[in-house]
Amino acid sequence: MGIVVLGTGSCLPKRIMTNVDLESIVDTNDEWIRSRTGIESRHIGGKDEQTYKLASGAALKAMEDAGVVAGEIGLIVVGTISSHMQMPSSACFVQNEIGANNAFAYDLNAACSGFLYGLDLAHKYILADHTMKVLIIGAETLSSRLDWEDRNTCILFGDGAGAAVFGYSEDDRGIIGTHMLSDGSLWKLLHMHGPESSNPDLKVEGYSGAFIRMEGREVFKHAVRAMEDSVKTLLKEKGLTIDDVALVIPHQANMRILNKLVDRLKVSQDKVFINVSKYGNTSAASIPIALDDANKQGLIAKGDMVLFCSFGGGFTWGAALIKW
Ligand code: ACO
Repeated sequence: MGIVVLGTGSCLPKRIMTNVDLESIVDTNDEWIRSRTGIESRHIGGKDEQTYKLASGAALKAMEDAGVVAGEIGLIVVGTISSHMQMPSSACFVQNEIGANNAFAYDLNAACSGFLYGLDLAHKYILADHTMKVLIIGAETLSSRLDWEDRNTCILFGDGAGAAVFGYSEDDRGIIGTHMLSDGSLWKLLHMHGPESSNPDLKVEGYSGAFIRMEGREVFKHAVRAMEDSVKTLLKEKGLTIDDVALVIPHQANMRILNKLVDRLKVSQDKVFINVSKYGNTSAASIPIALDDANKQGLIAKGDMVLFCSFGGGFTWGAALIKW
């Protein structure tokens, strides 16, 4: 232990798109979206709200919350699959925006698990160097990667960013452990092509644009099973049970996935933080936005066990446990 969250922050685009707004874009309706997903609205990025801008906004708030200035940050990792440029990384743009001149910076592609994989990195870097302060951000503008004619996907996602500053503390608290896994064999069930290849030999067969494509029902089954397995494995490894956990902050995929997970984990609903109705699925940003919401609402007390779990494209998934 000893690797703690020093502060959290989040940043959402100004524009809110409701389910009713979506009715004029694709053949859908508010009732279908609410009943199948629990989503009521989502934020959509506008001018000057690219992924790195939202990420920087969240980072500055997390640094303020932590009482840490830009020059103290040693590493910036942005979990994202929707940078406005392929290169440089969003993390390098953030470094420049916030003036973190002593940091190195890179992006991490683990789709919806980006923040948890980043948390795991922060844990390991700071264990190796206790003086280091690490900024982990999950940030997405998936509205720029959606096929707005595909009602299977465009109703699910939203834009936003969340961030946490990690550092070392002598207290008897911090990250207790993580359990991370991936399975590349199932990539087709949830994927997004990049820009089309300019090398004819490397053109991707079946290229259908740089949009999210998904087999919803299959993803649903894998998501529930994988998050359940990770959580149970991690708790068992640490000699704990779900009753030791004060708050579960899961990836906010959709309400039906979360309800199934609650059943499988046999955890009472009031211990599970859910805000998917307001934001939709913000991929890598969903856990840090939820963490910041829960933190700002005063739902986490010092010494509480906070459990995180995620699942996303790759497939990637995992769980993490922090004594707050
Ligand atoms: N509005 C209205 N009708 C729709 C819509 C829509 N937006 N989308 C699909 N339908 C229709 C279908 O065409 C189908 O009609 P039919 O019966 O006439 O053929 C009917 O609704 C049922 O479609 P299904 O795809 O079977 O609907 P399902 O009950 O599986 O719900 C959903 C779809 C919500 C996507 C579900 O499969 C799911 O939650 N999957 C998980 C996906 C997910 O959360 N992915 C996020 C990325 S991964 C992650 O974050 C964990």
